Amino acid sequence: MTTILQISDTHIAPKGVLVSNSLDTSASLEKLVVRLNEKRSQFGVIDCVLVSGDISEDGSVESYNRFKKILAPLDLPVFVIPGNHDLRDPMRNAFMKDGIFPKMGNLNWHKKVGKVHLLGLDSLIEGKGSGVLTPDTLQYLNDTLNKIKSEPVLLALHHPPFKSGIKFMDEIGLKNIDMFVRIISKFTGEMRIVCGHIHTMMMVGINKHMVVSAPSSCSSFAYDTRSNAPVGFMDVEGGCLLHRWNDGFKTVRIGPTCGSGPFPF
Ligand SMILES: [Fe+2]
Repeated sequence: MTTILQISDTHIAPKGVLVSNSLDTSASLEKLVVRLNEKRSQFGVIDCVLVSGDISEDGSVESYNRFKKILAPLDLPVFVIPGNHDLRDPMRNAFMKDGIFPKMGNLNWHKKVGKVHLLGLDSLIEGKGSGVLTPDTLQYLNDTLNKIKSEPVLLALHHPPFKSGIKFMDEIGLKNIDMFVRIISKFTGEMRIVCGHIHTMMMVGINKHMVVSAPSSCSSFAYDTRSNAPVGFMDVEGGCLLHRWNDGFKTVRIGPTCGSGPFPF
């Protein structure tokens, strides 16, 4: 059995800075870490944490250092991919010693954890909200999947490889979904594809593979499909996801609060 905890879109800012003048994103992540540690025995063994982009709000060195400090009490290996708010080189420097990032170029990586091949893809276009998988990244994906053959894969990219129906987010979505789909459709093994960006949990099938978008630890985008839907976030924390592989993938959402109980019924 292999278990990967996915945290997404933490948007950590430097000390004293509120995101969008209202969100204390560090406090949201701290609260989630406390909750995870309090209930850890309920969840079973967790092998590592995967963070699916927008780790930082502003790409600053301080924000990455703060992020690492907040996650430290989990005492787990942490693997990250960039989102549209991140900056490639500050992020590379902050996480270089984990040994998964290349010294130059896109932050694509592959690491086997337990029985699962974790594969992280870089869809960042610095300074833009939308994402793209460059020819190099698509080649990396193709070559790595060929090497893995048919062992289980958890594939992460920040921008969802599907249209969410939330218009203002789809406008800053992944530009070359079709090329991604063409490559992953050839893979014959078990694969769960995970992403972030839309700050909401959605499940979408692409051929025989399931794609799951993670909620954000700090805010949510409403599922409002009207063409005139207001643009903006809701101040609702979304928690995180647990992906467990045991002869197949199972994904569970862990909410940011646990309420009281259990009560007899
Ligand atoms: Fe985000």
